[in-house]
Amino acid sequence: MTKKIMLSGIQPTGELHIGNYLGAIKNWVSLFEKYYGYFIVVDYHAITIEYDVSVMQKRIIEAAIEYLACGLTPDKCSIFIQSHVPAHTELAWIFNSVIPVAELERMTQYKDKSKNNETNINAGLLTYPALMASDILLYQPHAVPVGEDQAQHLELTRMIARKFNARYGEYFIEPDTIHSNVPRILGLDGQRKMSKSLQNHISLRMTDKETETAILRKGVTDLNRKLKTDKGNPDICNMYKWHTIFSSEDEQKECAQSCRNASIGCVDCKRILVKNINNELSPIREKINELENNKDYVYDVLSDGAKKANEIASSILNGAKEKMGLLSHRE
Ligand code: ADP
Ligand code: TRP
Repeated sequence: MTKKIMLSGIQPTGELHIGNYLGAIKNWVSLFEKYYGYFIVVDYHAITIEYDVSVMQKRIIEAAIEYLACGLTPDKCSIFIQSHVPAHTELAWIFNSVIPVAELERMTQYKDKSKNNETNINAGLLTYPALMASDILLYQPHAVPVGEDQAQHLELTRMIARKFNARYGEYFIEPDTIHSNVPRILGLDGQRKMSKSLQNHISLRMTDKETETAILRKGVTDLNRKLKTDKGNPDICNMYKWHTIFSSEDEQKECAQSCRNASIGCVDCKRILVKNINNELSPIREKINELENNKDYVYDVLSDGAKKANEIASSILNGAKEKMGLLSHRE
C-alpha cells in the first residue's frame, strides 16, 4: 500500500524546544504509520530576521541532528535543507505574482515579527507565506502537521493553490492541516507561547540539571498561591498544565489534590514534573550527543534528502511553468 505524504518544516533559529517537539515533531513521528514524510530545515525563512552569520551553519546542522534524534529516520522520511532545493525560491516568485499583498499584510506572524524588528521590516518578512506555500505545494502533500500558530499560513497556502489553479488550470492540490494533541504550549512564564525568541523555553539540548534549574527558578505557577500553606488551584497553574502532558495520570491526580489541600508545595510538585520531562527527553538527548559525534552520517542524510527533493520539486515546478505558458528550457 502506498503511503500518503506529509510535509513540515522548522526554522533553524535556535535549539528546538518542547513546544516544537509536542506541537510538531512528536506528532510527525506518530504519523509515520500512514504517511511518508518530507521534513525541511527552512533556512531561507530564518534569514528574514536579524541573525548571527557566524553560527548559522552550526544551527542548520544542529536542527537536522535534532530532527534525527527525535525519530525522523531516513527510512521513513526525507530530511533536507530548503536552500539546497532551488525550486522553492523559484516557485515562491511565481506565487508572489498570484497572492494579493493585502492577504500577506493580514498574517499574524508578519504583524508580530515586524513589530519586533522595526528597524528591518524587509520584503521577505512580508512574502514569507509565498515561500512557505512553495515549500509545501512542490511535494503535493496530503497533510501538513504543524502547531496552532501556523494554521493561518496553511489557510493561505490553500488559497494560493486555488488562485493558481483558477488562473492557470487545475494543478496544485490543497493539503490538510494536522494539529497534535498539544497544538500550543505556553512557556515558563505561563503567559506567552513557548518560543525560542522569547527565551521562555525548555530546549531539547538542555541537561537534566539545566531543565531542573529553569523549571524551579522560572516556571510560573498559580500566582495567588503565595505561601506553601496556601491552597492552590491547578486549573490556573501552567506547571500543572505541563504535568497533564508529561506525568502519569496517578501523578497528575496526586499533584492536583495535594495542591488543592496545600499538602504539597510548588517546588516538590515541580520536581516530579522535572523528573518526567527529563525521562521523556533522555533518549533524545542521548541520540543528539551520539549524532554530534557522527556528523558525516548527518551530511549523508541531508545529501540524499536534497537529491530526492530536487527531483520531485523540479518536476512539479516545470509542470507549473508549462501551465503558465512559459517556454521550457532546451538542453
Ligand atoms: P518558534 O516559535 O520557537 O520560533 P517555530 O516557529 O520554528 O518555533 O515553530 C516550528 C514548529 O513548532 C511549528 O509547527 C510550530 O507551530 C510549532 N510550535 C512552535 N512553538 C510551539 C508551541 N509553543 N506549542 C506548540 N507548537 C509550537
Ligand atoms: N512557517 C513555519 C514556522 O514559522 C516554518 C515553515 C516554513 C513550514 N515552511 C514550512 C512549516 C512548510 C510547515 C510547512 O514555524
